[in-house]
Amino acid sequence: MSHIVEMKSIRKEFPGVVACDDIDFHLKKGEIHALLGENGAGKSTLMNILFGLYQPDNGIIKLRGEVVNISNPNIANDLGIGMVHQHFKLVHNFTVTENIILGLEPTRGLTIDIKRAREKIIELSKRYNLNINPDAKIEDVSVGMQQRVEIIKMLYRDAEILIFDEPTAVLTPQEVQELTKIMHSLINEGKTIILITHKLREIMSIADRCTVIRWGKVIGTVNVSETSEEKLAEMMVGRKVIFDLDKRAASPAEEILSLESLTVENRDGGHGLKNFSLGVKCGEIVGLAGVDGNGQAELVEAVIGLRKPDGGKILLHGEDISNLSIRERIEKGVAHIPEDRHKHGLVLDYTVQENLVIKNYYLPPYSARGLLNWDNIYEHAERVIKDFDVRSGQGADATARSLSGGNQQKAIVGREIDGNPDLLVAVQPTRGLDVGAIEYIHQRLLEQRDQGKAVLLISLELDEILDLSDRIAVIYNGELVGIVNAAETDENEVGLMMAGGRRGAAV
Ligand SMILES: Nc1ncnc2c1ncn2[C@@H]1O[C@H](COP(=O)(O)OP(=O)(O)OP(=O)(O)O)[C@@H](O)[C@H]1O
Ligand SMILES: [Mg+2]
Repeated sequence: MSHIVEMKSIRKEFPGVVACDDIDFHLKKGEIHALLGENGAGKSTLMNILFGLYQPDNGIIKLRGEVVNISNPNIANDLGIGMVHQHFKLVHNFTVTENIILGLEPTRGLTIDIKRAREKIIELSKRYNLNINPDAKIEDVSVGMQQRVEIIKMLYRDAEILIFDEPTAVLTPQEVQELTKIMHSLINEGKTIILITHKLREIMSIADRCTVIRWGKVIGTVNVSETSEEKLAEMMVGRKVIFDLDKRAASPAEEILSLESLTVENRDGGHGLKNFSLGVKCGEIVGLAGVDGNGQAELVEAVIGLRKPDGGKILLHGEDISNLSIRERIEKGVAHIPEDRHKHGLVLDYTVQENLVIKNYYLPPYSARGLLNWDNIYEHAERVIKDFDVRSGQGADATARSLSGGNQQKAIVGREIDGNPDLLVAVQPTRGLDVGAIEYIHQRLLEQRDQGKAVLLISLELDEILDLSDRIAVIYNGELVGIVNAAETDENEVGLMMAGGRRGAAV
């Protein structure tokens, strides 16, 4: 079997860390090859090297048997290598077509032939069932659609080797199914795929082989048909991973958050949230289940203070907080793990220690008489980094940008849980985390609950909702469908409710 790509002894160091420690990686033509490894293991770095974004300190890359020097992404494109990044790189106020041709050489005269580009996009979209509108603006389309734009961008450049860096982390379960189909059609057309993912089930169902990386070193490459989720997890973290949570019964106390007939308009002026009432008690985790786009975002934004409700009230400990600012709510004990870690979670050019106090730097012990106390800020950062295993080369002094995607997420989750909030609004808290980190974060959320704190969990992962929650509120079309006890329900029932079916009703 010929290898379309051979990476040999690839080494890449960053200050304080060996991201790739003499990695060998072989890709067979026509396969789906998964890359698995803990957060910070070096997966994105290795693929950024193959895509020409980084130069290795050492090692060689062979493409179709020939040694190549991929000194920048344009060369990667010319060689038929494309990549969909962990964090997309689209220009938001450009159209789909403009984004796809961005960076390409003009073909006719001095201008790019937009009309022909548009036609080619429509044709590719049909061929691979991508359902792309070439004239839509990026800012107006869903995350799933943005990803398909990135896919078509690769295909437009005739890429044969397609690198997907955690493509499913940002997708809804429905979109994941669509992406799986797209990947299979790509393989049928003769493409080869490298897939980075933390979801073991996904690897088992769509990959042919899987290479496991730990701390920058290859642990091994296995045929997926000859392995299991448990074995992969063990290879990855170097110990057995317990998939079962240690969860005791909750002992809920008084209600801390009360949403009373809350109405919030969505961005288009329609009703994002309609007359929505829900109570969350101290000492419980309430999961909000729903298909994406059914009012979850409006609910979260209203509770944390990003958006004013158009009707109804939000009470915290019985006090109406509907008109308080974000900062005032934080000071009253509301914490928030945001859905988009780059937009609302981190300032990428600030250091980790700065990011970890970004919400409370002006309070003691981080400030006194208007001066920052850097010793305390540093000490705090060291503790969160240790507790939440935030891995990077430079610890508290690393910029958030230099952290791997999962470690950025761990830093945010660590910051929010470490503040020991009375109410934690956790949106997709484990997005992009490896199985070991997920296990840890889940345990910490349960610990919060057991200490009498309240957690409102919003997740598109039904498994996560079912595992963690004590009660599950189901939202559909901006309305509360019903509330069920997690111990007395299952995936089927919640799934039906998510489609709008009332509990107990025959559907
Ligand atoms: N530009 C950079 N500057 C400094 N350090 C970096 C840079 N890029 C990556 N690193 C470090 O290299 C290591 C590997 O990071 P990488 O992004 O490859 O991890 P990953 O396996 O993709 O993890 P994740 O699953 O969290 O995305 C990390 O310790 C990271 O902090
Ligand atoms: Mg990564």
